[in-house]
Amino acid sequence: MSHINSNQLHRLLTAPVLIASLTLALHPASAESTLSTRISDAKQHRRQGDKKYPYRAKSDYILKELDLHADDVVVDIGAGDGWWAEKFAKFVGKSGVIHAAEVDKKKVEQMKKSLAKTPQIKPYLIETDSTGLPENSCDVAFFSQSYHHLNKDGHVDYLKHLHKVVKPTGRVVIIEKYTETGLGEGTHGTRLSRLVRQAEEAAWVPVRLELMTGTYHYIAILTQQELFPPEPKRGKKDPVKSKPTKKPNEKEIRSPRS
Ligand SMILES: C[S@@+](CC[C@H](N)C(=O)[O-])C[C@H]1O[C@@H](n2cnc3c(N)ncnc32)[C@H](O)[C@@H]1O
Repeated sequence: MSHINSNQLHRLLTAPVLIASLTLALHPASAESTLSTRISDAKQHRRQGDKKYPYRAKSDYILKELDLHADDVVVDIGAGDGWWAEKFAKFVGKSGVIHAAEVDKKKVEQMKKSLAKTPQIKPYLIETDSTGLPENSCDVAFFSQSYHHLNKDGHVDYLKHLHKVVKPTGRVVIIEKYTETGLGEGTHGTRLSRLVRQAEEAAWVPVRLELMTGTYHYIAILTQQELFPPEPKRGKKDPVKSKPTKKPNEKEIRSPRS
């Protein structure tokens, strides 16, 4: 049996640690929002990974944020090749539905073929200005790198349409290139400030806005404004809190000094 010297032993012990840290460096932790924003490496925000779909490397994190449940109904607007629809299908199960909406007829036909074994995915053709779905029918409306494709000046109307289609407790989720990063790299994205303005105009409130490290893409999660009722006016007592719950007894009425 050959003997291991102390140098070899050290190498053997540190190899797995090195591999684990390299894996983490190449695929930054999925719990994006729990990472420190402190810049420990000036290159940490640079774009990495797949040239066409860098945000796909963050799918675990994105799926965690979506938190889909069995029975959920999702509309994937601009579903493309159905990559996301296939991921969502696992979470919503056979009793859920993924409407894979596309304006491109060829893509719809391709999805129908490639996703035939997943009946909860329903590829269908849409107009450029509507999902064609009934009111109150979806838990999530999802855009991945397709929001900027909506008709010019039609974004607010589209978000208003989604306000009807998405259930009152539902969400709109938008993965989009943040055009203020990778400066000079074209316009295939949406300024975050623009998106927020459009969302507000259509009565949506962003509950999460986050740049996903190494992708130049952000995730925006919007919920309906009606979930945020007005705060009580200053100086006025909160009508709910000020209501006496029981009649005070005599001891409670008497002040300590009387
Ligand atoms: C860059 S691809 C993204 C595909 C897919 N969502 C993904 O992230 O892998 C943009 C997709 O949006 C579709 N699209 C373009 N205009 C659209 C519109 N008005 N409504 C919905 N989808 C649209 C295109 O046909 C294309 O498949």
